[in-house]
Amino acid sequence: MTAGVPARVGVIGGGRMGAGIAHAFVLAGAEVVVVERDADAAAAASARLVESLRRSVERSATERPLADLERAVTITTASARSVGAARGASELEPPGSALAGCSLVIEAVPEQRELKHAALAHAEEVLDDAAVLATNTSSIPISDLAAALARPERFLGLHFFNPVPASQLVEIVVGEATDPALVDRARGWVTAIGKTPVVVRDSPGFASSRLGVALGLEAIRMVEEGVASPADIDAAMELGYRHPVGPLRTTDLVGLDVRLGIAEQLHARLGDRFAPPQLLRRMVADGRLGRKSGRGFYEWSEQ
Ligand SMILES: NC(=O)c1ccc[n+]([C@@H]2O[C@H](COP(=O)([O-])OP(=O)(O)OC[C@H]3O[C@@H](n4cnc5c(N)ncnc54)[C@H](O)[C@@H]3O)[C@@H](O)[C@H]2O)c1
Repeated sequence: MTAGVPARVGVIGGGRMGAGIAHAFVLAGAEVVVVERDADAAAAASARLVESLRRSVERSATERPLADLERAVTITTASARSVGAARGASELEPPGSALAGCSLVIEAVPEQRELKHAALAHAEEVLDDAAVLATNTSSIPISDLAAALARPERFLGLHFFNPVPASQLVEIVVGEATDPALVDRARGWVTAIGKTPVVVRDSPGFASSRLGVALGLEAIRMVEEGVASPADIDAAMELGYRHPVGPLRTTDLVGLDVRLGIAEQLHARLGDRFAPPQLLRRMVADGRLGRKSGRGFYEWSEQ
């Protein structure tokens, strides 16, 4: 096991992000328990995780055989019984007990406040007092989620990026009640899984979304005003500032609807500089959502 990696890590929600987070800790040598909402979702999470572990083995990102990595994972359900290891025998476990003994649990259920409150409160009940709870929320204030907890000082944000295996960055989000000593521990964990931490005070959009969306919105306003074409605006940032991908292509990749949602939240909390441009609203209303719909600022059908 890589030094500094917690021995046993829990992940609540094994979707796109949860499976990626589980992947990162398994590769670093932790035992990982993934809690899903029901047996079907657990089977899907298991398939997702095994597939991404298989890709890492094929890419030689690890020297451990796939079977060894799979043995380090238990996928279980929030409600009833364990459905066993990622691809192995199933064994019954009482509800909630699977998370017991984890020194770190990261919540990655969908971005709904009530769902996250329930998942976090449930996890806190079965964890030791010394365990740390974290959330992967992209937009809900840490202090708001902490309201569901009896020990808010043991709670912070660990904001991973998609796709987790290929992304270097993790934002450590420090809530009002977070014990400052946790920040150094979190830095150690993030470094131990081979990623780079940045520490951010709990604030709208953290560091990454706030700056990324600000740039994207200004680029959209420039298209709206006819300043330059999307390709030229992107080239200006790619060649002039060495951004690997320009702000409009990034918007296409993220999804215009997703960006609009974040802009609306930032607008409500930070003011008019995040007001979504009319062009963005029109494109979303027209179904021009970017890569996923085949068309955004670029045509994606043939790419
Ligand atoms: N997708 C991204 O690019 C991205 C990036 C950074 C952060 N996030 C954040 O990560 C979180 C998860 O996003 P995602 O894209 O992985 O979503 P997702 O829908 O792919 O995964 C969510 C998973 O949670 C499971 N789930 C639902 N209710 C549950 C419950 N009560 N107990 C256990 N599991 C439950 C679902 O079955 C699903 O597998 C969100 O807060 C999101 O804002 C997403």
